[in-house]
Amino acid sequence: MSGKGIRIEGLKKRYGEGETAVDALKGVDMQVAPGEVVGLVGPSGSGKSTLLKCLGAVIDPTAGRMTLGNEVIYDDGWKVRDLRALRRDKIGFVFQAPYLIPFLDVTDNVALLPMLAGIPNGESRVKALELLTALDVQHRARAMPSQLSGGEQQRVAIARGLVNRPPVILADEPTAPLDSERAMAVIRILNDMARKFETAIIVVTHDEKIIPTFKRIYHIRDGVTHEEAGEGREFE
Ligand SMILES: Nc1ncnc2c1ncn2[C@@H]1O[C@H](COP(=O)(O)OP(=O)(O)OP(=O)(O)O)[C@@H](O)[C@H]1O
Ligand SMILES: [Mg+2]
Repeated sequence: MSGKGIRIEGLKKRYGEGETAVDALKGVDMQVAPGEVVGLVGPSGSGKSTLLKCLGAVIDPTAGRMTLGNEVIYDDGWKVRDLRALRRDKIGFVFQAPYLIPFLDVTDNVALLPMLAGIPNGESRVKALELLTALDVQHRARAMPSQLSGGEQQRVAIARGLVNRPPVILADEPTAPLDSERAMAVIRILNDMARKFETAIIVVTHDEKIIPTFKRIYHIRDGVTHEEAGEGREFE
């Protein structure tokens, strides 16, 4: 991906039809430059997860346009033939819940994606361990997910979202189960990733600890976004 990061124009999403239809997104405009981490905040039910799922090609938008890098991926219909490849190669997800694979240990949960992308197993595990170390869970590398605390599981899930160095990272409440020191560590890693790999990152959050770190914030309410300057507070 070169150049443009993420661009969303006039994005709409309607769930269902007729009287029970819900207009979750009513024309969202948003732009994230390569190397930028933006916050997306808004009340429960305002459309945050819906926006991330559309951008991540997990659900179909109803109308609008989305561009990743120089590629238009959606323009009143998907422009990409292989959505699985798009999700696998271009987008790193960090969800609200960790969704680890219960029968793989911590290292293999993270190493699975590079393995699926054709990187040799040993090399994939080295990449996994690097990120587990950066996220301070390397001491649990051989544990099974059920043996971890909630915060440890979330850090493993974050490592998995970052391991393929995707050009776009979509994080839905990534710091919710973490204490403030670990939440800041996650934000630091996301900022480092963004800078080092020119990643465009959207972080959905309610977390008062991390909101002051964003330079730009999109507020979403009733399916419409408004942009605002954040504090962009530095952290070492
Ligand atoms: N699969 C679905 N079918 C019908 N309506 C849905 C579906 N998913 C979400 N909605 C509705 O769309 C609106 C936006 O939901 P969404 O999950 O995007 O909100 P959110 O901002 O992520 O909220 P939260 O902060 O609670 O996670 C809500 O009114 C919700 O009830
Ligand atoms: Mg949500």
